[in-house]
Amino acid sequence: MSQSNSSAVVTGGASGLGRAVVAMLRSRAVGVVIADRNIEIGKQTASDLDAVFVETDVSSEESAGRAVESAVELGPLRLVVNCAGVAPSQRLIDRHGNLLPVKRFEIIVRVNLIGTFNMMRHAAAAMSANTPNADGERGVIVNTASVAAFDGQAGQIAYAAAKAGVVGMTLPATRDLSPVGIRVCAIAPGVIDTPLAAQMDEKNRAALEQIIQQPKRPGKPSEFAALVAHIVDNPYLNGEVIRLDGGLRMPPK
Ligand SMILES: NC(=O)c1ccc[n+]([C@@H]2O[C@H](COP(=O)([O-])OP(=O)(O)OC[C@H]3O[C@@H](n4cnc5c(N)ncnc54)[C@H](O)[C@@H]3O)[C@@H](O)[C@H]2O)c1
Repeated sequence: MSQSNSSAVVTGGASGLGRAVVAMLRSRAVGVVIADRNIEIGKQTASDLDAVFVETDVSSEESAGRAVESAVELGPLRLVVNCAGVAPSQRLIDRHGNLLPVKRFEIIVRVNLIGTFNMMRHAAAAMSANTPNADGERGVIVNTASVAAFDGQAGQIAYAAAKAGVVGMTLPATRDLSPVGIRVCAIAPGVIDTPLAAQMDEKNRAALEQIIQQPKRPGKPSEFAALVAHIVDNPYLNGEVIRLDGGLRMPPK
């Protein structure tokens, strides 16, 4: 994929994994739109990394469309990396017998799953107007799942369902978009050192860090960005979900 003069959208680009992806892309002179709902951090990150901030709620049809339009103004949109996500945890029923509210489940699915779907459709429409390269490629979409899609822990039912949805969309999205020359991959991170991971219950996080195989530490956002860069650079990667987790398999809780 030729990157000079092209543009990219990074959802959730204000913080954590998304921010590291923005930094990687700016180092390659790609014009980047940070599509994030957090105005304060979004503007700060855009100023730090010389990117464009567009206040975005990925789960809103219009808002996602505006982010994509802003990227097209910077140059042909060749890459969308979906990192926007939320991960609050709550069990189906708590120890007092209170039920996990449907509304709460819905919000987590809305941002993580529907938001990813929504961004993909807007991205694909814009990318389909690009001139293809010698391989017929017009663009790349990288979604962020989680190891919770495979080994969801107690309390992760909504998050795991949403992330399993992201995993499940990978192959049909690849098949839907291959006629227009767009590749789709997903990354399923384990524990990566970001503000979101810092919100985890400390005991649980410490226990998880103990069972990461090698290296025995949380991942770095730059390691996530390096995998995004590889997916972009390797035209033969398509329709695949790649775990990035130091060999971690999460226990029940
Ligand atoms: N950090 C980890 O250990 C880890 C592990 C597995 C998966 N993930 C996934 O990676 C992604 C990035 O997580 P992170 O660790 O960088 O978290 P983070 O909290 O640092 O960043 C997430 C960003 O998403 C934005 N966001 C949330 N809802 C949004 C919405 N509706 N519209 C637009 N932006 C929205 C937030 O404002 C924030 O800037 C998430 O999808 C998360 O589920 C993270």
